[in-house]
Amino acid sequence: MQPPSACPCRGGIPWQRILLAVSLLTFWYPHPTALLTIEPVPFDAAEGRDVLLLVHNVSENAIGYNWFKGNTANNSFKIISYLVSSQMTTPGPAFNGGEKIYSNGSLLLQKVTQNDTGFYTLQTVTADAIVELATGEFFVHVSLLTFWNPHPTAQLTIVPVPSDVAEGKDVLLLVHNVSENTVGYAWYRGQITDRSHLIVSYLKITHSGFQGPEFSGRETIHPNGSLLFMNVTKGDTGFYTLQTIDAYFWTEAATGEFLSLLTFWNPHPTAPLSIELVPFDVAEGKDVLLLVHNVSENTVGYFWYRGQITNQNILIVSYSNLTHSATRGPAFSSRETIYPNGSLLFVNVTNGDTGFYTLQTTTANFQIETATGEFRVHGLVAQPSLRATNTEPHSVAMTCLSGDPGISITWIFNSQTLQLTDRMQLSPDHRTLSIDPVRQEDAGEYQCEVSNPASSSRSDRYRLAVICEWPPSHPVLPSNISLQRAIIWHQP
Ligand SMILES: *[C@@H]1O[C@H](CO)[C@@H](O)[C@H](O)[C@H]1NC(C)=O
Ligand SMILES: *[C@@H]1O[C@H](CO)[C@@H](O)[C@H](O)[C@H]1NC(C)=O
Ligand SMILES: *[C@@H]1O[C@H](CO)[C@@H](O)[C@H](O)[C@H]1NC(C)=O
Ligand SMILES: *[C@@H]1O[C@H](CO)[C@@H](O)[C@H](O)[C@H]1NC(C)=O
Ligand SMILES: *[C@@H]1O[C@H](CO)[C@@H](O)[C@H](O)[C@H]1NC(C)=O
Ligand SMILES: *[C@@H]1O[C@H](CO)[C@@H](O)[C@H](O)[C@H]1NC(C)=O
Ligand SMILES: *[C@@H]1O[C@H](CO)[C@@H](O)[C@H](O)[C@H]1NC(C)=O
Ligand SMILES: *[C@@H]1O[C@H](CO)[C@@H](O)[C@H](O)[C@H]1NC(C)=O
Ligand SMILES: *[C@@H]1O[C@H](CO)[C@@H](O)[C@H](O)[C@H]1NC(C)=O
Ligand SMILES: *[C@@H]1O[C@H](CO)[C@@H](O)[C@H](O)[C@H]1NC(C)=O
Ligand SMILES: *[C@@H]1O[C@H](CO)[C@@H](O)[C@H](O)[C@H]1NC(C)=O
Ligand SMILES: *[C@@H]1O[C@H](CO)[C@@H](O)[C@H](O)[C@H]1NC(C)=O
Repeated sequence: MQPPSACPCRGGIPWQRILLAVSLLTFWYPHPTALLTIEPVPFDAAEGRDVLLLVHNVSENAIGYNWFKGNTANNSFKIISYLVSSQMTTPGPAFNGGEKIYSNGSLLLQKVTQNDTGFYTLQTVTADAIVELATGEFFVHVSLLTFWNPHPTAQLTIVPVPSDVAEGKDVLLLVHNVSENTVGYAWYRGQITDRSHLIVSYLKITHSGFQGPEFSGRETIHPNGSLLFMNVTKGDTGFYTLQTIDAYFWTEAATGEFLSLLTFWNPHPTAPLSIELVPFDVAEGKDVLLLVHNVSENTVGYFWYRGQITNQNILIVSYSNLTHSATRGPAFSSRETIYPNGSLLFVNVTNGDTGFYTLQTTTANFQIETATGEFRVHGLVAQPSLRATNTEPHSVAMTCLSGDPGISITWIFNSQTLQLTDRMQLSPDHRTLSIDPVRQEDAGEYQCEVSNPASSSRSDRYRLAVICEWPPSHPVLPSNISLQRAIIWHQP
């Protein structure tokens, strides 16, 4: 236990120090099982031909579309966006002049070249601020064969064992449902299957493994594609992608993420979105406001999740600035109120509310930002009691009795913080105050105060009288305080 003197303040404790348990949480989740799908037409596109990326099952109330090159909605690779209401198109950094978007979201790629090979991602946003993603890969081969491998239909899955790994321990990323004629596996750091992000790959036909630039020396790939990751550290948090290749050069990919318990209420590196807890330390039964700061100007939707991932099953509540209405999710406890500025008020918190919360925001031009953090609910401390003993006639030991965990103890003398003299001694946990020898000036009212970061409580007053044997003296006690203990002070 830390000496109480080292944790005296509330509010100013760095977040890192509150999270004493340094452990890594591993989450592995496939792409959302969105019904939104993309179909390339024609399926086999020859170089120089036009390819229409047909969009199926778009929500009826879609208000806009974003197309990206790559398998994530990274704005640095935005091709084009389209706002349904104004029929306005805005080209992005990855626009090369040959793409055309239709009002139903479908994208026409004109005169495709081998450079158009790769992942394409469509992001749609609906009037109730629901964001859907569909990703697919597209190859333009000299052979004039086109492969299209949309994620939603991919069966390839990865299961981390254990699912919750502590720092310094090992985790096995088990690969399931690999297609029968898979000939090769490649593990990448991040969400992009690019040679520069390769950790390690394995080719079954030659029974050989290859190490890539992201190999750290702690990864072992098994012939079945599973990856053993040894001695994981905080630095290993982030996305990992497995890509498999079969004998016909079809590929499948699955992406997952290692998350760390050491997640702060601080923004994603590129996003200034942040959350402030008011108050920082909340006591059971009290209210806490999760204040949202640095929201993008044109934010249209806020989503609060109970946990570290943005999954519909753990949605607490969302708010749309387009319809000005809140929608409750499965994790709603009826004690949460979302404000139009995204801030979340949580009333009457209980110990069970301790844990992670994630906010996701969406802007009118479909940028998504998230912030994740944890709050701890502290129990209210009970009133301590004070007991005293004087084994020796000239000494006294007072003990502060409290059953609450994680408390710090301070001593109060005549309503002021006790100033220790050289005749006084505190036990290392501050529970016991000894005075030896006792003098006349020690007479007065003693209390002990126990506190945790959210509350504090003082014991009843304990009156210490010091009675001098010689010359005899009769201390006058206020009638409203009963004499609890008298110390016989021997005059020299
Ligand atoms: C659209 O969704 C329906 C039902 O959710 C599904 O049966 C159908 O296959 C989907 N269509 C496409 C082209 O994915
Ligand atoms: C988007 O891509 C750029 C360029 O590769 C990269 O620097 C940036 O980190 C990416 N952003 C995200 C959120 O992945
Ligand atoms: C979308 O519009 C394009 C161009 O008008 C059309 O060819 C295509 O069939 C439409 N997509 C769907 C799914 O209806
Ligand atoms: C493909 O990209 C490379 C490098 O950016 C460029 O030199 C080449 O001309 C491009 N090819 C075509 C057919 O556009
Ligand atoms: C493998 O695929 C089958 C059939 O699609 C599915 O039922 C099963 O859950 C999958 N296994 C894993 C571990 O994802
Ligand atoms: C893959 O191989 C490893 C090591 O032999 C084994 O522990 C694991 O169970 C295998 N994975 C599957 C999905 O069978
Ligand atoms: C695990 O990593 C830590 C820090 O990088 C290092 O000190 C330690 O020796 C490693 N342990 C093993 C078993 O590799
Ligand atoms: C908002 O963002 C600015 C710039 O990134 C930063 O200086 C400021 O501290 C942020 N405010 C909060 C409350 O996070
Ligand atoms: C939300 O909508 C209101 C009214 O439509 C607007 O004044 C406000 O600026 C919007 N908020 C954000 C963050 O865009
Ligand atoms: C958001 O709204 C709530 C309730 O009106 C208010 O208490 C809070 O200060 C607002 N948050 C910010 C960051 O302005
Ligand atoms: C707070 O929660 C406690 C326990 O769940 C309940 O007994 C109490 O009535 C609640 N108080 C309010 C104000 O909701
Ligand atoms: C006892 O009475 C005195 C004088 O009336 C008063 O100053 C003091 O605060 C009282 N103490 C307690 C513990 O009520």
